[in-house]
Amino acid sequence: MLDRAAKTFFQLLAGSGTLKALASRYGMRRPESFARRFIAGETVQEAIEAARALETRRLKLTLDLLGESVTNLEEAEAATREYLTVVDAVVQSGVERNLSLKLTQLGIDVDKASAVDNLRKILERAEPAGFFVRIDMESSAYTAVTLEIFETLWSHGHRQIGVVLQSALHRSEADLRTINALGGRVRLVKGAYKEPKTIAYPKKADVDAAYARMLKTLLIEGHYPAIATHDPAMITLARAIAQEHHIAPDRFEFQMLYGVRRDLQAMLIKAGYRVRVYIPFGREWFPYFMRRLGERPANVMFVIRGILGEGG
Ligand code: FDA
Repeated sequence: MLDRAAKTFFQLLAGSGTLKALASRYGMRRPESFARRFIAGETVQEAIEAARALETRRLKLTLDLLGESVTNLEEAEAATREYLTVVDAVVQSGVERNLSLKLTQLGIDVDKASAVDNLRKILERAEPAGFFVRIDMESSAYTAVTLEIFETLWSHGHRQIGVVLQSALHRSEADLRTINALGGRVRLVKGAYKEPKTIAYPKKADVDAAYARMLKTLLIEGHYPAIATHDPAMITLARAIAQEHHIAPDRFEFQMLYGVRRDLQAMLIKAGYRVRVYIPFGREWFPYFMRRLGERPANVMFVIRGILGEGG
């Protein structure tokens, strides 16, 4: 109940233009500011610095230029150009070449064909340079179209791309079988969006149970899967399944969000597993930040302490 209520509340806040404007003015101003725990900074150079720091701790990374729900093609084209400069900056910096992006950032709400064109432009620059590009999964309004675009690109020979499936949605177990059969790479998450009960599990216990089932299918039948969770129970389960089925630690990876459960990240590295950290950066950080607060109400206290200047 509380989980759903918190998700709804922060989803509402995420849509508030006034709050977004206020937060954008104050949230990232100082290096110790409250949003910095979850967001690497506003510029690609700050993201690259964060990436370097993670690499010294033997962590892998994926860079996400924040932005979503653009409402006109000019904004979508600007986001695409910005992604191209990110590709160039990453190549120049020498950090690992791995990106995550969202289709609503590339204009899918405005015109599907233009969004696909924008994605192709990014892939044309990124793939020859050896990047892997993960298409993040947004709310259920985009599940079918995201998977359709992924499958089309896959059928056109793009192999350095991957998708995300959310265990919260009823349809995901069937989607997992389809993507596995294709040979595609899946990042498994629980799901960050509030969804209607008709298509998603309302109870956290059911989302977790579906995650556990999908985890097993993915590890056994998937293609270099990404187990994206901070949930110790799911991580323990993944390790047990891998051991039981003789799946070597280099045939899958764990993924976690920047600033979340750094202790678990370090523990897994020490135990010999691969861990990739999702590094979000950019000016459009507000909706991402709100989703992180909605996942864990304790984070709100962290923010309040930060605003009151008590650090944390
Ligand atoms: P759960 O919510 O059960 O949390 C388990 C524990 O993790 C908590 O008890 C707490 O200790 C810690 N934790 C979780 N969230 C935290 C937070 N925000 N702050 C501090 N601690 C926290 N979703 C989506 O819909 N589409 C996507 O494309 C992605 N992409 C993505 C990439 C990566 C690398 C990760 C790790 C996650 C995503 N997600 C996502 C988000 C995902 O759906 C989910 O909302 C969060 O990962 C939280 O769920 P957990 O699996 O961590 O479990």
